[in-house]
Amino acid sequence: MADILDQKIIHPLKLFNIATNEKRLLYTSAPMVRYSKLAFRQTVFEYGTDLCWTPMILAKEFNRNQFARNSDFTVSTTGPQPPTIVQFGANVPQELARASSLVAPFTSGVDLNCGCPQSWACAATMGAALMEKRELVRDMVTTTREQLRQDGWDVGLDKDMESSKGRSVSVKIRVHKDLRKTMDFIETVIGGPSREHRNVDFLTIHPRTRQTPSSTPINVESLEILTSTYGDRVPILLSGDVFTLNALPFSSPLLSPNPTFTTSSEVPETGTETIPRRLNIPKLAGLMSARAILANPALYAGYDACPWEAVEAFLNNVARAPLPFKLTLHHLSEMCAPGMAASDKTALLNKQERSEMMRCENMIDLIDFLDEKREIKRRRRREGDIAG
Ligand SMILES: Cc1cc2nc3c(=O)[nH]c(=O)nc-3n(C[C@H](O)[C@H](O)[C@H](O)COP(=O)(O)O)c2cc1C
Repeated sequence: MADILDQKIIHPLKLFNIATNEKRLLYTSAPMVRYSKLAFRQTVFEYGTDLCWTPMILAKEFNRNQFARNSDFTVSTTGPQPPTIVQFGANVPQELARASSLVAPFTSGVDLNCGCPQSWACAATMGAALMEKRELVRDMVTTTREQLRQDGWDVGLDKDMESSKGRSVSVKIRVHKDLRKTMDFIETVIGGPSREHRNVDFLTIHPRTRQTPSSTPINVESLEILTSTYGDRVPILLSGDVFTLNALPFSSPLLSPNPTFTTSSEVPETGTETIPRRLNIPKLAGLMSARAILANPALYAGYDACPWEAVEAFLNNVARAPLPFKLTLHHLSEMCAPGMAASDKTALLNKQERSEMMRCENMIDLIDFLDEKREIKRRRRREGDIAG
């Protein structure tokens, strides 16, 4: 415990600043129920992720149940301890404040999930249902900020970014079909007229509505409007379709080289031809990846497909920060399959090999299986090189 409390915790706003000074976007990995646990966070951190999210944790259960606390949130006592945001699902200000108070010594900040579309969450007025409850969301973040301040944490936004006691409070949202509702929501939740007087340190926007399936591309136009309206008042992260750094559906001065991909927005030009228009999003501060980083934890290090080394790094991290064996297998089946990047659909294992892997019954079998497959592929590559 003393070890972890001694580790210097870095303020997320400082990370935003470092990324901007390096003329790039901030790289973050998304909250993913079931998946974004410590061993995975450590793996993506090794491959260039600046800031990691835990899966959503239900604040009420976390506050009341020691078992929930032990199983939902793990930190490393021996490092590496990636800069981490703990995400909560909550609908009562005091519940979010209390849960945040419990995790604050071990984390860079806390985040409220206003995006989960699942029916059970919405029925309990959590997740995306909160997009219709802007005053409640504002009350949850202000109560939490006040609780952390009373506990002795520095929650003074940019002015506290150098403090080792600095902590952030943020929210992750979806958009409404009518973007004016999203703007009303953001106005209410960030509050204050200026950057110095806001209620949230930063905002993550997933530009899909509660009803939009994840197979539908994100709405880049709404992201452009929201970032140009609010990007000077609050740092904004994009969650959605961050599949590879080389093929984002927009351009930004903080992306170099800029992607070659285009959006669905096409402006009619002369004659029958249309010239695809790529929207520029200069006020976006960072990226958050979910499905793509699950398949390829090395995404931010510039890999378009998962390398074997990332599999090895993940297994090493699992050995130190164990995950249930079935969950480890699920992670590996994601990492060994074709990823989300359209430019590179190579897979470490083919479909048949992946089914074979899923039949492994323990870690020893699994490690032997992967070692053997990797060695066979290495040998084939060498033979191919010689033949070629
Ligand atoms: C397996 C999985 C679990 C998720 N769990 C959460 C969660 O706990 N909290 C949350 O805010 N979003 C959650 N999401 C949504 C993602 O954080 C993200 O907003 C969404 O998948 C869009 O990003 P992508 O296109 O990079 O996948 C989850 C997504 C996936 C695929």
